[in-house]
Amino acid sequence: MCGIVGYVGTRQAAPILLDGLSRLEYRGYDSAGIAVRDEENEHVEVVKAKGRLKNLMEMTDSGHAVRGTCGVGHTRWATHGEPSTINAHPHYSREKRVVVVHNGIIENYQDIKDMLVRKGYAFRTQTDTEAAALLLDSYYTEAGKKGLGPRERALDAIRNMMIRVRGSYALGILFGDQPGVMYATRKDSPLIIGRCDGEMRGHMIASDVPAVLSYTRNVVYIDNLEIACLTQEEMRVYNIDCEQIDKAFVEIKWDAASAEKDGYEHFMIKEIHEQPRAVRDTLSPRIKEREDGQKCLDLSELELPDEELAGVSRVYLIGCGSAYHVGTAARTVIERLAHIPCEVDLASEFRYRDPILEPRGLVIIISQSGETADSLAALRLCRERGMRTLAIVNVVGSSIAREADAVMYTWAGPEISVATTKAYSTQLAAIYLIATKLAAVRGQISPEREQQLIEDMLALPDKIERVLSDKERVQWYANKMAACKDVFFIGRGLDHAISLEGSLKLKEISYIHSEAYAAGELKHGTISLIEDGVLVVGVATQPDLFEKVVSNMVEVRSRGAYLFGLTTYGQYAIEDTVNFTVYVPRTEPLFATSLAVVPLQLLAYYISCAKGLDVDKPRNLAKSVTVE
Ligand code: F6R
Repeated sequence: MCGIVGYVGTRQAAPILLDGLSRLEYRGYDSAGIAVRDEENEHVEVVKAKGRLKNLMEMTDSGHAVRGTCGVGHTRWATHGEPSTINAHPHYSREKRVVVVHNGIIENYQDIKDMLVRKGYAFRTQTDTEAAALLLDSYYTEAGKKGLGPRERALDAIRNMMIRVRGSYALGILFGDQPGVMYATRKDSPLIIGRCDGEMRGHMIASDVPAVLSYTRNVVYIDNLEIACLTQEEMRVYNIDCEQIDKAFVEIKWDAASAEKDGYEHFMIKEIHEQPRAVRDTLSPRIKEREDGQKCLDLSELELPDEELAGVSRVYLIGCGSAYHVGTAARTVIERLAHIPCEVDLASEFRYRDPILEPRGLVIIISQSGETADSLAALRLCRERGMRTLAIVNVVGSSIAREADAVMYTWAGPEISVATTKAYSTQLAAIYLIATKLAAVRGQISPEREQQLIEDMLALPDKIERVLSDKERVQWYANKMAACKDVFFIGRGLDHAISLEGSLKLKEISYIHSEAYAAGELKHGTISLIEDGVLVVGVATQPDLFEKVVSNMVEVRSRGAYLFGLTTYGQYAIEDTVNFTVYVPRTEPLFATSLAVVPLQLLAYYISCAKGLDVDKPRNLAKSVTVE
């Protein structure tokens, strides 16, 4: 949801800004812009372009045409104001006294705008961000009258802006009369600082780690309501009272290559292929071998004592999009294994439904980015109500990871494609670990069953590999179906959870209308949409529900549907009903989601490719949704 990069140092800034932005394009790609202070001519040059970053690259000769060593850049996902050059960031006040790039939403921008217009300020754009830029200008002018030094004046203006503004923001700020200084602040939108050494000595800011990884591995996470003041030599961080505070650098362990395509045509197909590794990396550090050769789960990182886990009376699973789909699957897995009642909620609904929460309940927030605004708000609501919270998160140091009582990281590595694949799979793996642990401490499963579940988990990566080895068949089928207009995904129980994810994958990257239905529910209305040639994907991995799903498939076939069946090896009876079948290896049925989702990811991917669409950056979407 908008990407920010900034650099102040010894090197020309613009090429670094554009390179950093190219790693953040997954966050937004409606328009892009940079502002760089040209020290020789003592002015700030702003260049913006509508559309993809490549337009800005072309305009600036990949940044080489823009002089100066201190600047900020932005790639936009439009909220207020259509995608256009004028609405692209950076936004600035008269004579570029204050220049800002912003990620987030200024909720009370209209009030601020009205107040500033009364003071004589003129607005050029339809964005909320311009209100923040001009507000800063107004406070900077006032602070100037107090006789403060340049840094104190900037801090005073930023602090007053933070007090006045409602909403979420990460801001990179330049003051036209302060050469070689960059400021940054944030509330509820991510922002990091990177320290660059050697011949590009200086500091960077960025919305996410991949933007700085080619230059540094040493980063600082700016916390809510902190202000950073950065120069080539110095990093100073202040709290909202403008008192300087100490911040520790964290070393990022993964390297820039993890965020490259590695010879694959798209990030999505690369990330689909990374799933065996990602699931293995998520499971194996948490499975230990005892002296007697038996395996056991080690979730000590959660710091949740067994007695507390044993006493959990209800589990609340909360997430958005695919993370919510993981929650839907998790409900079945946890209820079946641990016999704890579960509720699953969309974070955007949960936060406004005034939920009734049991004091001994455990809240599990699921989020790849750890920054999704609704999931973060749901987490905060639960914490305010005194609930125990556990986050399943992929991005280390993200807001959700830091604010939850306990965090289980998924070790998917950086996920660049907007459509999630490997993060989804690792979230499922995390759920299997937690469900099995809950079941064991509550005495709901025997030691033998626990061993078997652990073995089945450990076998998943190889089985995902086997599913991937059959990808050409799915590709062939996807090419045939690329022209279809409507697709229904149906299944029962866990197969319904898989259907939800398969349907979302298809619609987000192929723009084909699709819906997921509980198979038994179709006949209560939706079956009227089935007509000749409509594609129905029937998911039937659950042995106890296999025949029921097949019956529902027969019902739609007799109304003209064209059928794709997805089941496990051995369930060959499905061929009597369907037109095309994909089989996945047998596994513990509660873990079948991990295998069955893979052909559906591939189906969506190959259809998108066949339609010539931008697989990794589908229209209207952004990876990290940091606005409500
Ligand atoms: C779909 C997708 C989204 C995310 C959702 C939540 O492919 O990626 O539906 O799952 O926006 O994002 P996180 O997991 O970052 O909270």
